[in-house]
Amino acid sequence: MKKKLVSLLTVSALSLSVLAGCSSSSDSAADVASSAEEAAEEAVEEKTEEVADAVEETAAEVTDAVAGGDLADKKVGVCIYQFSDNFMTLFRNELESYLVAQGFSADNITIVDGANDQATQTNQIQNFITSGVDVLIINPVNSSSAATITDLVVGANIPLVYINREPDADEEQRWEDNNWNVCYVGCDARQSGTYQGEIIVDLGKDVVDLNGDGKIQYIMIEGDPENVDAQYRTEFSVKALEDAGLEVECLDDEVGNWDQATAQQLVANALSAHPETEVVFCNNDAMALGALQSIESAGRTVGTDIYLVGVDALSEALEDVIAGTMTGTVFNDHFSQSHSAADAAINFLNGAGNDHYIGCDYVKVTADNAQEILDSVK
Ligand code: BGC
Repeated sequence: MKKKLVSLLTVSALSLSVLAGCSSSSDSAADVASSAEEAAEEAVEEKTEEVADAVEETAAEVTDAVAGGDLADKKVGVCIYQFSDNFMTLFRNELESYLVAQGFSADNITIVDGANDQATQTNQIQNFITSGVDVLIINPVNSSSAATITDLVVGANIPLVYINREPDADEEQRWEDNNWNVCYVGCDARQSGTYQGEIIVDLGKDVVDLNGDGKIQYIMIEGDPENVDAQYRTEFSVKALEDAGLEVECLDDEVGNWDQATAQQLVANALSAHPETEVVFCNNDAMALGALQSIESAGRTVGTDIYLVGVDALSEALEDVIAGTMTGTVFNDHFSQSHSAADAAINFLNGAGNDHYIGCDYVKVTADNAQEILDSVK
């Protein structure tokens, strides 16, 4: 069998040389030679590409394995100011699943409830430090406690990502000046307030000024007053009306602490004291949902004899905007914020570092785009 193959090869080699020899023109010989050369080059190129691809693939696998392996071993401590907060529930669930998707082990992610008490949360932070976490993600109960928290965490040489409740400018300056591994991930609450105001402005003065007295009578339901989100939303929603040349009259301004039941009670009282209310501004959707309950119990109809806006784009609120029972809301993008927070934690862990402020945009939501936003958050 082998012999046969050898002789066959010999015969074909001979015929090839004869063929080449038969040709009287030296061009043909050169042609054969150059096509052989081309074929050889192509074969080499192909092989080189194959080898390069294989090397690249292996390198990527090795990187993944190293990174995945590293992250899987890293311990993450997450402090949430209060588990019962609707928005922070969306945020923390997304944060956890994104951390796992990036390679952290679910067993190494510990998320604790500060129960809206700074002393409890500070204790939890101390426990995390003692237990040796590699990185901390903190949604402070009181942003004004940030300096104390930062000192504790930086003192233990642990990188820190603040979320949702922005520490003040002096505190952020300290991170910058000391080049600490500390950053904040969140949105600029001024933008959400402005969008709330613009939703009302865009309806047109004649539509909103229901009693035609030339002024927009409103009530304001605020979140936790020490939270910059509450301060800015309160200020900038009204400022947007004024900037558009509308005269405003505040009938009532109450603290609902981000809470639906509290807001429901406050709005019930405010509406009975001020039936001339034309607009209800709520610093978040949970409170707007509470406001809506009271608006309906008072026999009022959103879009007809009163207007209502919130912030967050909770699914229930989006459904209300679609149904017309809420005038509008502002999408507080918990996907983008939680992913950026996790990415920032990873950057600290692998030594890449972060900017001290990592921002995210809000999105104005009215009946025009509420369905689209609802589809994207589901
Ligand atoms: C959200 C609120 C939430 C608060 C918690 C805000 O950004 O809009 O719904 O209660 O964060 O700090």
